[in-house]
Amino acid sequence: MTYETLIVERSGHVGTITINRPKALNALNSMVLKELARAIHELTDVDAVRALILTGAGDRAFVAGADIAEMAPMGPWQAREFSELGHVAFALLEDLPCATIAAINGFALGGGLELALSCDLLYASEKAKLGQPEVNLAVTPGFGGSQRLVRLVGKTRAKELIFTGDFVDAQKAKEIGLVLEVMKPEELMPHCQKVAEKIASKGPLAIAKSKRLVERGYDMPLRAANRQEAETFALLFDTHDRREGMAAFLEKRPPVYTGK
Ligand code: CAA
Repeated sequence: MTYETLIVERSGHVGTITINRPKALNALNSMVLKELARAIHELTDVDAVRALILTGAGDRAFVAGADIAEMAPMGPWQAREFSELGHVAFALLEDLPCATIAAINGFALGGGLELALSCDLLYASEKAKLGQPEVNLAVTPGFGGSQRLVRLVGKTRAKELIFTGDFVDAQKAKEIGLVLEVMKPEELMPHCQKVAEKIASKGPLAIAKSKRLVERGYDMPLRAANRQEAETFALLFDTHDRREGMAAFLEKRPPVYTGK
């Protein structure tokens, strides 16, 4: 499949989606959001993808936000549709049955930070600047930032970022728990690939189910979530990969997982 605004690649079990509008600092317009949703669907259809990396083209930005030029003439109805496009694409990402990694290689602002927040693991280059500057344009976050940011860094930090519109650098982002690690720009993609390959070497169903347990369980009462965990744990015992994983351990050899 070809895309106008994305570069979609696969190497072994690792997929990479690069938002490719470097002249506009990879701003998210409707086409990017639609293509992103399509690329996520297509990658999910390919069993072989067990971990997915998202990043931005060029050396300045991950994504500098929703496309302001496209939003400027919008009325409320179009803005609602546009917001929905973002919510749908990002929910697809969150629901993907494989790990997703944001390689934040520069500005991650507004919709760009919201995209990163929809990924499972966030790693940043020293050059990254992160923020929710929507208030500068007299709007709120529109692709989930007011909710996912709170869940990650807590209410008051999220309010500070959203109310001031300030950018934080990568170190500060790590301090407040927004990103996991900070590294030199040239180390970012190799690091993300290494993490992706490590995850891809594990039992794929175990990764998919672990992700779902964390995501769904987060909003559930603890006892109900733990019951769900016990059921998922039990169900995995009926899989080829579970038998393979335990047999391989006992036979002192590496396991060969098939996702079955
Ligand atoms: N939308 C559209 N175009 C954008 C953009 C965006 N979000 N961010 C940058 N660009 C474009 C600029 O218009 C400029 O294009 P031209 O060369 O054609 O003029 C190009 O990218 C380079 O940007 P700058 O010249 O501004 O570069 P800079 O180094 O001076 O500043 C920046 C970089 C601080 C990131 C600045 O571009 C900026 O503040 N961008 C906007 C950030 C923002 O407000 N993001 C939130 C958008 S609202 C949103 O995302 C809503 C939501 O939640 C859904």
